[in-house]
Amino acid sequence: MAEIGKDIIKAKAILDAGELVGIPTETVYGLAGNALQSDAVAKIFETKNRPSFDPLILHTSSLDKVYDFVLDVPEVLRELADAFWPGPLTLLLPRKSNVPDLVTSGLETVAVRIPSHPLTRSLLTSLDYPLAAPSANPFGYISPTQASHVNDQLGKKIQYILDGGLCEVGLESTIVGLEEGEVTVFRLGGLDLALIEHIVGPVQVMSHSSSNPKAPGLLKSHYAPSKPFILGDIEELVERYQQKGLDFAIMTFQQDLSQVAERNKIILSPRGDMKEAAKNLFSAMRILDSMDVSVILSELMPNEGLGKAINDRLKRASVQA
Ligand code: TXA
Ligand code: MG
Repeated sequence: MAEIGKDIIKAKAILDAGELVGIPTETVYGLAGNALQSDAVAKIFETKNRPSFDPLILHTSSLDKVYDFVLDVPEVLRELADAFWPGPLTLLLPRKSNVPDLVTSGLETVAVRIPSHPLTRSLLTSLDYPLAAPSANPFGYISPTQASHVNDQLGKKIQYILDGGLCEVGLESTIVGLEEGEVTVFRLGGLDLALIEHIVGPVQVMSHSSSNPKAPGLLKSHYAPSKPFILGDIEELVERYQQKGLDFAIMTFQQDLSQVAERNKIILSPRGDMKEAAKNLFSAMRILDSMDVSVILSELMPNEGLGKAINDRLKRASVQA
């Protein structure tokens, strides 16, 4: 298994050698490699089992450095960068030719983000190249929000995981770019849409599609547990599955259903706090997935604030059910 620790110098040495390191961010853990070295980037795809048509996000530590990889930051996106970086925002920007094709899957835009996690910020500051880092999970599975999640799934394939504790946000970054001149959200995420609209006014949100998506991250089958994951009115679902006599576990936002045994339920935020629910979501899905039951039942969150991003993940997780 991988070594887990807080040694930035060690992480840097491994990255400098063209190898990969698990890194904490405020959103989810990333599987990082030197973004300017095609061999290191190829290892990322291989390690995650990720198709090469799904491009990666560049992580760096300052806006100055961002200009090393992009031709331009359009004014309206610059406003978002000023407001939310470092933080859970990814911008799609016209790339310079020093960004390897493999990073962008041949697209003319590159996804860039300045994460806020202090450990990873120190690491990025110490490097003279940006890090390409997708979420550190096998392709299609739930994103990791603590070092042990990364170790459980990719520990045999990487040497080192930088341990930054639990991810504060718990949802992947919100991806924003321009589409025909309009500010467009390509993936709902840890930065609340309302905060974005507060700065730039109403924006359009790209919907998912299972084939030929504009952003491959919009593939519906992402974020899925390996058990059937069923969404609906939770009380109805519980009644139906009890009648069928099937073993199940449930996930709710705030409600505690007394008809379900304690060990078979997870409440994301008993006090009804959407940020707390987001922070707990992916760990909860992993725990449910590892329980000795045949299906997972869940309700949708109230569709407001981060609830929209959570619901997006829940719907995608439920497709394979
Ligand atoms: O919070 C996050 O964004 C995390 C942490 C580690 O930073 N990273 C993450 O990366 O979620 P990943 O690879 O799991 O998702 C990145 C998504 C991909 O689904 C990809 O399709 C989209 O970003 N993307 C990357 N470059 C793009 C581009 N040029 N145009 C459209 N979408 C792009
Ligand atoms: Mg991912």
